[in-house]
Amino acid sequence: MSQKSIAVLTSGGDAPGMNAAVRAVVRTGINRGMRVYGIHRGYNGLLKEDIEEMDLRSVSDIIGNGGTKLYTARCKEFELEENQLKAAKYCQEMGINGIVVVGGDGSFRGARALAKAAKKLGSDIQCIGVPGTIDNDIACSEYTIGFDTAMNTALEMVDRIRDTAQSHDRCSIVEVMGRRCGDIALQTGIATGATAILVPEVEYDIERDVIARIINTQKTGKQHFIIVVAEGVGGVRDLAKYIEHRLRIEARATILGHVQRGGSPTLRDRVVASQMGYKAVDLIDKGMGNRVVVMQNGKITDLDIDEALEKERVFDKELYKIAMTISI
Ligand code: ADP
Ligand code: F6P
Repeated sequence: MSQKSIAVLTSGGDAPGMNAAVRAVVRTGINRGMRVYGIHRGYNGLLKEDIEEMDLRSVSDIIGNGGTKLYTARCKEFELEENQLKAAKYCQEMGINGIVVVGGDGSFRGARALAKAAKKLGSDIQCIGVPGTIDNDIACSEYTIGFDTAMNTALEMVDRIRDTAQSHDRCSIVEVMGRRCGDIALQTGIATGATAILVPEVEYDIERDVIARIINTQKTGKQHFIIVVAEGVGGVRDLAKYIEHRLRIEARATILGHVQRGGSPTLRDRVVASQMGYKAVDLIDKGMGNRVVVMQNGKITDLDIDEALEKERVFDKELYKIAMTISI
């Protein structure tokens, strides 16, 4: 039987732990007798024929590095069918018959489109998605690579902000990442004892959900406050002004931004990424394609890509209720 050739790419926003996933794919593939390529800058690498053959040592010493060794990109052109066909043709020429895509659900759509384009050309590319994004916003998986590191970075930053808020008896409003998903805000808010947490999944009323909560805690003697706001809610500078004007307490806004995307991955991200990368290659080795590796009930398993992309995210309302109950 001819040697199987597979490739791995990282796509969309980078996330700490992507390197650990790439390492796992490369090493598992080579261990199974496969030739393994790394594609640079997401789907751009397929369009620009920018790929490298990987060996065991090419992924040495990357498990603890943030960012992604393969670089990443958002490649709008890949949404066009003509470019998907071009990429599929290139894979055909290179003999690549399996691709692991580490990214978010947009990247999984790209993987599905690539597999479809290959079929049109009469070839087969087994495409496997691996959830990698700090946001934890992929409905089919309860965990995405990078989430734990991003939350721990946010936690450390908010703890530092709390020190100065406490010294000055101020209210600090901190924006954390998460455009459509409030998971980083919710968990960081709980872990830092935020007086209010604003997330895109829960409608809020500024008087009820921010001002009244501050007043209530003031009554119990508290004089500094942390408000954690998800990026998808935004408006932290206006919120700071409103709080100053309305309550006559000093308020400061901080947008944490891309600090949350970098840094050495936590143990959890390194281990989950290693498990997911291994699982992706195992699926290809078993002849399976159009799958997404997911975490369900704490276990690494896989789902059909169409089913995975149809799922709707469920926000953890119970955890939000707990946060609102104990942060007083
Ligand atoms: P994420 O993967 O984090 O959700 P994006 O939505 O930005 O991030 O998608 C990453 C990349 O995946 C895009 O830049 C594009 O290259 C590819 N992609 C996204 N949606 C599609 C689609 N419908 N068809 C083909 N490729 C897509
Ligand atoms: O999806 C991850 C994420 O960091 C979001 O939280 C954020 O909205 C977005 O990416 C920012 O993307 P970029 O600055 O890379 O365009």
